[in-house]
Amino acid sequence: MTDINEKLAKKIDEVKHVLAEIVADNSPATFASSYGAEDMVLMDLICKFAPEIEIFSLDTGRLPAETYEVMQQAKAHYERDVKVYYPNAEAIANYVTENGPNAFYDSVDFRKQCCGIRKVEPLSRALSGKKAWLTGMRRSQAVTRSELPVSEWDEAHGLQKYSPLTDWSNGNVWAYLRAFDVPYNKLHDEGFASIGCAPCTRAITAGEDIRAGRWWWENPESKECGLHVKAK
Ligand code: ADX
Ligand code: SF4
Repeated sequence: MTDINEKLAKKIDEVKHVLAEIVADNSPATFASSYGAEDMVLMDLICKFAPEIEIFSLDTGRLPAETYEVMQQAKAHYERDVKVYYPNAEAIANYVTENGPNAFYDSVDFRKQCCGIRKVEPLSRALSGKKAWLTGMRRSQAVTRSELPVSEWDEAHGLQKYSPLTDWSNGNVWAYLRAFDVPYNKLHDEGFASIGCAPCTRAITAGEDIRAGRWWWENPESKECGLHVKAK
């Protein structure tokens, strides 16, 4: 193995076990990738050890240029297809016509409607017909995720949901990315800890919470986009 310590090697082994269990017991399974740091760790592990697991991404139409760059890099690096889902064109056209392109800054309700059209509805299409889905979420990312288990029943979507990196620290994630030379979103080098749509993501400063740069104008308790309704 590359230059990693025993603790990280153990964490990697645990994830490999979870992936093997998913393939054995819950196929077809699909991994939701936003191409953020955690998701690149999981993409690397899936491509190497569980290629049976499908990978998809939700292109909201408002992603930063750097996210498209890492998508392109990952495609060349792993030589595998990632299925891309887009919002319903008519729903977006109606929302923007009625409310304007940046209405999400005006109220939590407008923000949730935008996330609903650009992320949540496409997610339900991506999960249709699957027995399980995987995310790169971690407990230490947010107050809303402090009890996130590795595996839970996702009532909203009717399938098993796995977060194999839930107990990984930010340090574990970056040690992995560096040790295995994994492509990553260059916005991370500019202080962006958690990356979503361009207009709803900003860099954070030292001491700020990891997700402080997401929907920074809202309270921490409302800062979930609806993809993870049961994550607490
Ligand atoms: S979220 O609030 O946008 O859901 P975050 O960016 O922390 O939060 O992502 C958490 C997990 O949701 C990611 O690890 C990934 O599994 C999934 N996810 C988020 N955004 C996308 C996306 N655009 N496409 C696919 N999966 C996504
Ligand atoms: Fe819309 Fe912002 Fe949600 Fe993206 S993160 S879907 S731009 S409200």
